Amino acid sequence: MGGTISQVTMNGIVKTFPGVKACNQIDFDVRAGEVHALLGENGAGKSTLMKILYGMLRPESGQIAIDGTQVEFRSPADALKAGIGMIHQHFMLVPTMTVAQNVALGQKSSRGFLLDLDVVSRKVRELSAAYGLKVNPDDLVAHLSVGEQQRVEIIKALYRGAQIIILDEPTAVLTPQEVDDLFVVLKKMVAEGHGLVFISHKLHEVTALSDRITVLRDGHCMGTCSSDGMSRESLVKMMVGRELKALTSRDSHAGPVRLQIVNLCVAGDRGTQTVSGVSLAVHSGEILGIAGVAGNGQRELAEALIGVRPVASGGILLDGQDLSGWKLNRRINSGMAIIPEERMLDGAIRDFSVQENVFLHDHADKAFRTGIFLRFKKMAEHARNLVSDFKVKTPNLDTPIRNLSGGNIQKLIMARELSRRPNALIASQPTRGVDIGASEYIRQQLLNQRDDGTAVLLISEDLDELFDLSDRIAVMYEGQIMGIFDRHEADVRTIGFLMAGMKPEDVPEPDESRPGCLDAVV
Ligand SMILES: Nc1ncnc2c1ncn2[C@@H]1O[C@H](COP(=O)(O)OP(=O)(O)OP(=O)(O)O)[C@@H](O)[C@H]1O
Ligand SMILES: [Mg+2]
Repeated sequence: MGGTISQVTMNGIVKTFPGVKACNQIDFDVRAGEVHALLGENGAGKSTLMKILYGMLRPESGQIAIDGTQVEFRSPADALKAGIGMIHQHFMLVPTMTVAQNVALGQKSSRGFLLDLDVVSRKVRELSAAYGLKVNPDDLVAHLSVGEQQRVEIIKALYRGAQIIILDEPTAVLTPQEVDDLFVVLKKMVAEGHGLVFISHKLHEVTALSDRITVLRDGHCMGTCSSDGMSRESLVKMMVGRELKALTSRDSHAGPVRLQIVNLCVAGDRGTQTVSGVSLAVHSGEILGIAGVAGNGQRELAEALIGVRPVASGGILLDGQDLSGWKLNRRINSGMAIIPEERMLDGAIRDFSVQENVFLHDHADKAFRTGIFLRFKKMAEHARNLVSDFKVKTPNLDTPIRNLSGGNIQKLIMARELSRRPNALIASQPTRGVDIGASEYIRQQLLNQRDDGTAVLLISEDLDELFDLSDRIAVMYEGQIMGIFDRHEADVRTIGFLMAGMKPEDVPEPDESRPGCLDAVV
């Protein structure tokens, strides 16, 4: 490990992938004792630039210097040795090992032996106490929540002596409460002299946490500014190049029930019941939102609805027909559409091309075949139209979707699902990790779909999103529905209490003398 770093500078960084210039002459620097936020739409080049700084990718041209001395990283090990660490959005922990074992992984003692785990555990406890990172070194990683796993990753970076730490969308997977906890830790790290690079699509987080902000657009650096006095509007303009429109929608005209969930029970990964007797009815022309803190059965509910997790008991009816025993494809063919949470995306699907993904469920569709022959030209045309209508940024139709940025994968799936004019749509965290412009687009499409008479079930941890889109909001806690509210009658405060497990009749009257108390639950 080198001495104390005061500044890391990147100059004229260029990185090209087939068909895209991900970084085009980018300058960027981060200093000890600051949070430098990196903003930009999906595919702007944020992760690529940071993977270069962390030695995971090599630029075609450009330099990196630490305190004025040029360095060259051939691997993350080189970057770590120089004092630069990175926390990825997808954690790289071994679930069958304990926290201490994960921290020790790949580390050798100075005498070349594997580290003494007791020593590691002690150091983990010290770091955990010093930075307020609550973890137990003896816990098995498989038993940790997403937030806890993230804390282990941070401890791992600190353990290795990282002074400059890159956090790539650390809040995208966290609940609002966990975000608050993370910010306390990050502020502590900055106070201790660490320099942080913080990537997020949530502008209120960026303005709350960062000292400086750099905006990327299409691989170009649009500028770096101090966060003081930066308004949301001016940041959006720098990122997107235009102002955002307000969402528009007709008044809702809910029709008959299309999707009916009857007393549904579903088991979770560990065999225990995670959805316990949920009954909901979603009407044609209605968006029913489901609020809840992550881990309260929403994911299992969505998986059961789309047919990738077995139903233990109860029914799922689409236009009166019970499809709870059906496989995914049959449900889709009967008029159900699915916008899955990113984690539900099957790994293999990521290797399929953009066009193959468009036809994932439709290869049997009569419009695209003559007899047994597929009509390739027609298929390519359909895929091209969807890509252009939904503004999916991709070099071409043959690109594997793993090479698209998160928001663009989400737009492609949305395009595919909505083009089939579904009767019912299950949307699970549809805008998580998606940039502001694309979020606006996806939300508007959900409203349009509702206006066309689709029954939409929207599962989201983002309360703003639920309030913006839903006609009714149901709150889920420990596998049960705690209450359902008309959007106009719902208030954030009551929903917050229900999300924390309180029954509607027990929600206390607002206490004027304790204005901040809401923040503890929402
Ligand atoms: N391994 C790769 N192969 C080919 N293209 C890639 C690869 N990684 C990234 N790209 C492309 O480079 C561009 C920049 O991607 P990058 O992941 O850096 O964007 P980002 O700003 O992090 O976006 P997001 O907010 O969605 O995470 C995109 O057009 C993306 O499709
Ligand atoms: Mg990224």
